[in-house]
Amino acid sequence: MYRSVFRPGLFKGRVVIVTGGGSGIGRCTAHELAALGAIVALVGRTPEKLATVATEIADSGGSAFAYPCNIRDEEAVAELIGNILAAHGRIDALVNNAGGQFPALLKDISRKGWEAVVQTNLTGGFLTARECLNQAMQHSGGAIVNIVADMWGGMPGMGHSGAARAGMVNFTETAALEWARYGVRVNAVAPGYVASSGLDAYPPEVRGLILQAGKHVPLQRMATESEISAAIVFLLSDAASFINGAVLRVDGGRPGVRPGFPLDVDRTVEPFNGFHLASLPKVLQDREKE
Ligand code: ADE
Repeated sequence: MYRSVFRPGLFKGRVVIVTGGGSGIGRCTAHELAALGAIVALVGRTPEKLATVATEIADSGGSAFAYPCNIRDEEAVAELIGNILAAHGRIDALVNNAGGQFPALLKDISRKGWEAVVQTNLTGGFLTARECLNQAMQHSGGAIVNIVADMWGGMPGMGHSGAARAGMVNFTETAALEWARYGVRVNAVAPGYVASSGLDAYPPEVRGLILQAGKHVPLQRMATESEISAAIVFLLSDAASFINGAVLRVDGGRPGVRPGFPLDVDRTVEPFNGFHLASLPKVLQDREKE
């Protein structure tokens, strides 16, 4: 069973949508929410991945349902939210986590590539949140957490994603202001480097960068998926009832690093790993074998 730091039953009977729930941070968060009693609607493009996670959650004693959908498709998103509402009777929370990008320098990004990344990481998140608001949360309140990225000061090598994520931060702030009247809180979590399955999606050319990434973090390592999930669950929970329009950075202090300041450690901060099914991405497993 998931070893959450949060109280058992904290989300009992609440319906929570997790987009990108088929892998990585989304899968981990779905497990934690289900372990705390939530009924989880898993959204993603690949039905098989969602079905696998739904089975894992059922095997762990939780409740989760697969809802395949491409969040770039406006009509499909409206239908998705309607279907979830019809099936479960309510929507209490949304984890707007689906995303993805490919490494490329700005000068090499085509308009098509740029727009694909912006549609996935910005427009899709907007559409999903808007439909949750209009179809459900406007009438019953709720909480939304948008997952962005450590893009502060630019995101060289992934400028399309950086621009989209920065847009999502501003969307978070505006939605927090406009939707407070309905009892809806909107916040964001900005993860830094995370040892999640998403790392295996990058091409071999960036393997060296991935393996060195932890060295640029004051805490001298990557995050576990559960360290990100814990922040998301906190922001969704009643303990965050006065937090609205905030971005919670979960990055080990990476954005504050100045050139030349030594990143030596006398003592490590032990990672928190509550996810009973966690496994290292292959790229990090291979390094451990070397
Ligand atoms: N995960 C990554 N891209 C996605 C998309 N377009 N729709 C749903 N889930 C996704």
